[in-house]
Amino acid sequence: MDKKVSVKVCLGTTCFVMGSANLQELIEQVPKKYGDKVDVSGVPCLGLCSIDWEFSKAPYVKVNDEVVKEATVEKVLATIEKHLK
Ligand code: FES
Repeated sequence: MDKKVSVKVCLGTTCFVMGSANLQELIEQVPKKYGDKVDVSGVPCLGLCSIDWEFSKAPYVKVNDEVVKEATVEKVLATIEKHLK
């Protein structure tokens, strides 16, 4: 069987302020859509916001090793699709 795709939604302060609250719906939607092919969870600060704080592209989501910047539900779903292939 294929490996699972792992999705980590950053719920750290910066990402939260920058809109990751909207991404929490992924935590409900993704399992409904993909069942156990995708693991989705909310995680504390991924450490990405502090690297380029001034040019912060928060909220961040990680799909496997790929960082999705300025993440939206649509962007994250598209990235998941890419990784499922
Ligand atoms: S709060 Fe999301 S990377 Fe730091």
